[in-house]
Amino acid sequence: MNALRVARAEEKKRIAVIPGDGIGVEVTAEASKVLRAVSTAAGRELELVEFDWGAERYLRDGVSLPPGAEEMLRREFDAILIGALGDPRVPSMKHAADILLGLRFKLDLFVNARPIELLDSRLTPLRDRTERDIHFIVFRENTEGLYVGMGGIFKKGTPEEIAIQEDVNTRKGVERIMRYAFEYARQHKLRRLCMSDKSNALIYGHDLWQRVFAQVREEYPEIESTHWYIDALSMQMVKDPSQFQVIVTCNMFGDIISDLGAQLAGGMGLAPSGNINPESVSLFEPVHGSAPKYAGKNLANPLAAILAAAMMLDHLGWADEAVAVQTAVRTSVREKQTARDLGGSLGTHEVGDWVANYIIKQGVQRAGARV
Ligand code: IPM
Ligand code: MN
Repeated sequence: MNALRVARAEEKKRIAVIPGDGIGVEVTAEASKVLRAVSTAAGRELELVEFDWGAERYLRDGVSLPPGAEEMLRREFDAILIGALGDPRVPSMKHAADILLGLRFKLDLFVNARPIELLDSRLTPLRDRTERDIHFIVFRENTEGLYVGMGGIFKKGTPEEIAIQEDVNTRKGVERIMRYAFEYARQHKLRRLCMSDKSNALIYGHDLWQRVFAQVREEYPEIESTHWYIDALSMQMVKDPSQFQVIVTCNMFGDIISDLGAQLAGGMGLAPSGNINPESVSLFEPVHGSAPKYAGKNLANPLAAILAAAMMLDHLGWADEAVAVQTAVRTSVREKQTARDLGGSLGTHEVGDWVANYIIKQGVQRAGARV
C-alpha cells in the first residue's frame, strides 16, 4: 500500500482549475503560479487545466456545471482547485450552488477539512494567544444535513406561507465523517477530538450523532474525545482555543465555526479547505468568497488559495512540496510580504510572485533532509 502510494506520487499530476468569479480569478492565478514554481523546484510534473465555469459563462449560455462534468473530473484529473463563486449579476447564486454544492454532492466529497492555524501571533484578535494556542482542524460533514435541499415552500408570498428545510442525517453519512476525524487524529498522533452537535434540541437528527459518536469513540481509546453543544463550542473556541486539536461536526455547524475559526487565525485571507473523497478526486478551495467589491483591483490576498493548493499537494502525496509552499506562506506572513489585510502593502500578483520566488530560491527539501 505504501509502496503504491509512493509510486503514484512520482507520476505527473493533472489538476482541474476553476477560477470562478470575482477575486477567485485573481487568487487562483497566483495559486497556479505557486504550483508551477513548486513543480519546477521539485522537478515533478504538474499539468493545470482551466475551466471557465462561473457567472460569466452562466450569463452567456445558461451553463453552470456542464452535464457530465463530474464524470469527466473523476476520470481525467487527480484533483480540483477552485477560486470562489458568486457574482452580483446572479443574485440567486444559482450557478454557485450548481457548481460548488453540485460538485460536493456529485463527487461525494463527504469530508470538508478546514485547518485553523495561527501563523503569526500578531494576527489573532484574541489577547495573549500565540501560534501554540491556535492550531486545530475542523472536519465538517459535507454531503448531508441542512444542505441537501429537501423541503419546499407552501402558500409562498401569502401570510400563511410555510417554508420547510429538512435536516438529513444518515447513519452512513455520520459514521464516515466521524471515523475520518478519529482516523486523522490517530494518524497525526493528536490526542484530543471534540464532537459538536445540538442534540439537546435536535432530538432526532443529532441523537444519531450522539449514538454514532458513542460507538466510534470506543475504537479509539487512546484519543481523549469530548463533546460540546455547538453554542458552547463557539464560546469555548474564543475562550480557550488551545483545548482543540480535531473538531468534527455537521454541515451547517461546520460552515459557521470554520468562519469563526478563520478569524481567530487572522481572517479569511488565510483559511484553506479541502473537500475530500478519500477514494476519488477531491476539491480544494479557499474558505473565502468572491468578494466582488475587491475584484479586479489587485487587492485580494491570495494566501488562502495558495494554502489550499498546498493542502492539495499534500493530499496527492507531494508532502515535501506542500511543506515548501506552507513554509513560504508562513515566511511571507511573518515578514509582512502580504496584502493589506495582513498588514503588508503588496498587491495580489506581488504576493504570488514573492511566494513563488521564495520557493524557487529555497528549493524543495526532501523529508529525510528536513529536521
Ligand atoms: C463555504 C461557503 C458555502 C457553504 C456557500 C457558498 C454555499 O460558505 O464553503 O463555507 O455554505 O458551504
Ligand atoms: Mn462558509
